[in-house]
Amino acid sequence: MQAFLACFESGCRAKFALSEVLYNCPRCGGLIEVDYEWNEANTAPWKELWRERRMDNAPLEQSGVWRYRELLPFDDAQSQVVTLREGNTPILEAPRAAKYAGLDRILFKHQGFNPTGSFKDNGMTCGVSQANRLGKQVVACVSTGNTSASMSAYASAAGLKPVIFLPHGNISFGKLAQALEYGALTLQIEANFDQILALVRLITDRAGVYLLNSINPFRIEGQKTMAIEMADQLDWDVPDWVVMPGGNLGNASAFGKGFSELHRLGLIDRVPRIAVIQAQGSAPFYHYVQSVERGRFSAVGNPETLATAIRIGDPVSWPKALSVLEHTDGLVELVSEQEIADAKAVIGQTGIGCEPASAATLAGIRKLRSTGLMGKGDRVVAVLTGNVLKDPDYIYRYHTGTLKAPNGEEIVSHFGNRAQIVENDPAKIIELLRTL
Ligand code: F0G
Repeated sequence: MQAFLACFESGCRAKFALSEVLYNCPRCGGLIEVDYEWNEANTAPWKELWRERRMDNAPLEQSGVWRYRELLPFDDAQSQVVTLREGNTPILEAPRAAKYAGLDRILFKHQGFNPTGSFKDNGMTCGVSQANRLGKQVVACVSTGNTSASMSAYASAAGLKPVIFLPHGNISFGKLAQALEYGALTLQIEANFDQILALVRLITDRAGVYLLNSINPFRIEGQKTMAIEMADQLDWDVPDWVVMPGGNLGNASAFGKGFSELHRLGLIDRVPRIAVIQAQGSAPFYHYVQSVERGRFSAVGNPETLATAIRIGDPVSWPKALSVLEHTDGLVELVSEQEIADAKAVIGQTGIGCEPASAATLAGIRKLRSTGLMGKGDRVVAVLTGNVLKDPDYIYRYHTGTLKAPNGEEIVSHFGNRAQIVENDPAKIIELLRTL
């Protein structure tokens, strides 16, 4: 297998060596991806090989990313891999959530089970391993919180220095706390995610630091293993739909790439439809896809949502995500703050739980069911991107009826669960318990 970098633009497709540090094509400015020349005749034993590796205690085999390394661009560089045993995230059945959405059945692939509690770890293990291979000392990212938590952990594990740029005041404490704990140089900038990304892209090359946002093609390679692991867990019988929240659109790009490579290699017989769900106040991709003419992509200048992870108005990976929708017969939907909040509480009541952005999936599925775009009996896997503990402040506000949308509107706690204050009196407590 030979891997190389390639321009994503179909009119260009310029090729570059894996050792080049590229985020955009030097010829046409397009996005960069990793591409492969596989010998397709060799793929038959892979499914069995990947299963066998699960029984092995070696670090690379225990990783739910590196176990699938036949599809990753690190053939000659396995000694430089940095792993925290990422991936291996479960697929969970949630009947109560299925009922809420109007489906017979729903499965959640819960990326919140990752070492730093989000799907970013799948990509970051590859991104930081590439930084290692390139001999970089300092790695940087802009983040709404999860990328920075993940990058900080992996960089520190590799002995590299993490530098993170965050939108001041718009990141949950759980995520900020992780970055501090993992030892990142943490810079809070008075600007939003899109503005900071533009700033950081200007300075990274000059400062000699390696950028680990999802514009980095090695991040996408790691993240595509979520699709591979999902297919493996479903015994290669892929669902009708895979649903995920959309922010910077790296994740949708990665899932699409993963499934289409599996298909190209004959490991699955079709690709699932990809549905991307955006928050109403941060939905540039939704508006673009809906627009009749599809001319220039227009960013949302002041994106707003309480799901701060996806508070992004100018997603860099939109061309890749658009191509994923085209190749998978996918779609984009948007959901309100109220819908996200209620869906999140329902996911909590199933005993699973997730962070706000992740709950956009269930809210979106419910909407797609109500409009008839999704069938009751369709096989649906929703990707829960982050752990429930990432944003406890949001949870507390929802359950105490004090959560307000960015426009000031109150969120109604339809599934609220308030703590009760009780006297230190056994009789009264017994009386209370009898009402259950
Ligand atoms: N869900 C969560 C929990 C996220 O943290 C993000 C992105 C997304 C969904 C959207 O994924 O950007 O690939 O479309 N978080 C980034 C960050 C932007 O900085 O942590 P996407």
